[in-house]
Amino acid sequence: MSPNTIESVLQEERLFSPPVSFSKNARIKTWEAYQELYEKARSDPESFWAEIAERELHWFKKWDKVLDWKPPFAQWFVGGQLNLCYNCLDRHLDGDRRDKPALIWEGEPGDCRIITYAQLHREVCEMANALKHLGVRKGDRVGIYLPMIPEAAIAMLACARIGAPHTVVFGGFSAEALKDRLLDANAKVLITADGGWRKEDIVHLKQQVDRALADDKVPSIEHVIVVRRTGHPIHIEPGRDLWWDDLQEEASDQCPAEPMDSEDPSFILYTSGTTGKPKGVVHTTGGYNLYTHLTTQWVFDLQENDVFWCTADVGWITGHSYIVYGPLSNGATILMYEGAPRPSNPGCLWDLIEKHRVTIFYTAPTAIRLFIKMGEELPKARDLSSLRLLGTVGEPINPSAWMWYHRVIGGERCPIVDTWWQTETGGIMITPLPGVTKTKPGSATFPFPGIIADVVDLDGNPVGENQGGYLVIKYPWPSMIRTVYKNPDRYRSTYWENIPPKNGEYMYFTGDGARRDRDGYLWVMGRIDDVINVAGHRLGTMEVESALVSHPAVAEAAVVGKPSELKGEEIIAFITLEDSYTPSEELKKELKNRVVEEIGALARPEDIQFCEALPKTRSGKIVRRLLRSLAAGEEVTGDTSTLEDRSVLDRLRNV
Ligand code: WTA
Repeated sequence: MSPNTIESVLQEERLFSPPVSFSKNARIKTWEAYQELYEKARSDPESFWAEIAERELHWFKKWDKVLDWKPPFAQWFVGGQLNLCYNCLDRHLDGDRRDKPALIWEGEPGDCRIITYAQLHREVCEMANALKHLGVRKGDRVGIYLPMIPEAAIAMLACARIGAPHTVVFGGFSAEALKDRLLDANAKVLITADGGWRKEDIVHLKQQVDRALADDKVPSIEHVIVVRRTGHPIHIEPGRDLWWDDLQEEASDQCPAEPMDSEDPSFILYTSGTTGKPKGVVHTTGGYNLYTHLTTQWVFDLQENDVFWCTADVGWITGHSYIVYGPLSNGATILMYEGAPRPSNPGCLWDLIEKHRVTIFYTAPTAIRLFIKMGEELPKARDLSSLRLLGTVGEPINPSAWMWYHRVIGGERCPIVDTWWQTETGGIMITPLPGVTKTKPGSATFPFPGIIADVVDLDGNPVGENQGGYLVIKYPWPSMIRTVYKNPDRYRSTYWENIPPKNGEYMYFTGDGARRDRDGYLWVMGRIDDVINVAGHRLGTMEVESALVSHPAVAEAAVVGKPSELKGEEIIAFITLEDSYTPSEELKKELKNRVVEEIGALARPEDIQFCEALPKTRSGKIVRRLLRSLAAGEEVTGDTSTLEDRSVLDRLRNV
């Protein structure tokens, strides 16, 4: 966050009560009811979660033990058996929901599909059988690299149905990034498409796949399933590549859901951290199903006739939990959109809200800032009166963007839920409950029942009112990360050792800084580690640095985030060159392209600054704090006495 934003957040005094008409019909209607739930979950978490698990989910076999907590490893509903896909589909087929739309999908070129629960069930069963036919067994990993088309949700659910953990790779990642993830997950099958539509251009997904798999670079992949989306000519590797529709045509639509142990992995999702390599966050079945189910229901106050639109991509955790699993487990109708606002159709999102009478809209602050820039005439020209609730996620929201969202999109009648959570937490952790919480623009407010959040110093001592500190979670919750795939040590050191346990109490380290105000509201300020948040996308500085140093011209690279009005943060790289290279615009371009090739366009540095040397401590550590100030154009303040060579700073100022 820029100092200006922090300033405005600190001065934020406005308080918005939920509209009486909203609270009256809400699932949780009073502040006292929330407090009661929170207190019950705090004092007896096991009974709290057990009662809800029993009431809300279908179990093939009931658990023996609610929680087995051997810090830092937690197991939930031990001995219980269920199936995530069964809970999302089969159990809705007996009553009125059978013919209810599960998925309303809009493609970028204007094609539209409405898929009912019964139809979705059939398609998922067919794909599940096709996967089995290709030799995918329970426990085998399946990669998914798709645009925002129904097949993305179908593929995920098909994997869940047969117990094959999926690893979805966002379609904006490059061949190189895809390869790394498939290799780490040792995936057996990859599901992709010929291409996807993005701002009237084709995203050449299959081409990236061919590059990622060329020369048998990922030996575990036996087959690639290709969805026909754009219809443009692509290479088909004989014996390896198969068309989705051919497989579907041959497959039976009867496929019983595999009973899974509650702690069987449901998926692996890679996310950026402080080291160069993204880590595979492992989620399991029972706890994940329960927590995403309940948070969807309470945070979004889900009602039977809602049309729920979460604008995230299924390649991120938000798409996993609040496009697919949470809403479908509740039998909701979701909207999924392949496109994005573009010059030829800048009002497309508002058109869709009007057309499908969307009631709940969940998006990211970076998108809201873009809407503001595009002008309020666009939404104002549409009928958005169907909306009753708005949400945001992904980064701190600046109060002015919050106010705009409230006024222009929400018509001053829709509560806003600013939801804080992470890939690792699986579901929403800190959030208003829309019928009861008085909101303050920019604050994610209070923890969800069952979540014990605190703001502490590095020794684990709670800090005082309005003092900045580290946001931690003090007790396990059902959808928490179980481990880093194949790397339990990294799990332990990343999340549980930054702050030492205190009196036997372990603290999950979120990597975010926060403060609590005098009314107990939590304000999340952003990452305090080497992770940057570019337009709501999480990227590791080390990841971008490794991409840069893979270019022969680069001797050393240091990457920092610079505050950006639109994207939250943007990437600035400081680079020293090998002797035989000289700085040039051409080289800058080449280096930016290198990052796009290694990671994807989402990581393209906004600017590259060549310098003679990087500021380092005597022990050789790059002092990023200084670079961050320089990038932001701020006065470099604070201690510079630890620098090995102070003249480096003066020379950097002059670049
Ligand atoms: C940031 C996305 C402030 C935070 C679900 C976190 C937020 C990271 C908020 C996780 C919010 C997410 N307010 N910051 N409401 N929501 N963040 O793993 O820094 O892609 O650690 O999960 O996004 O990003 P991830």
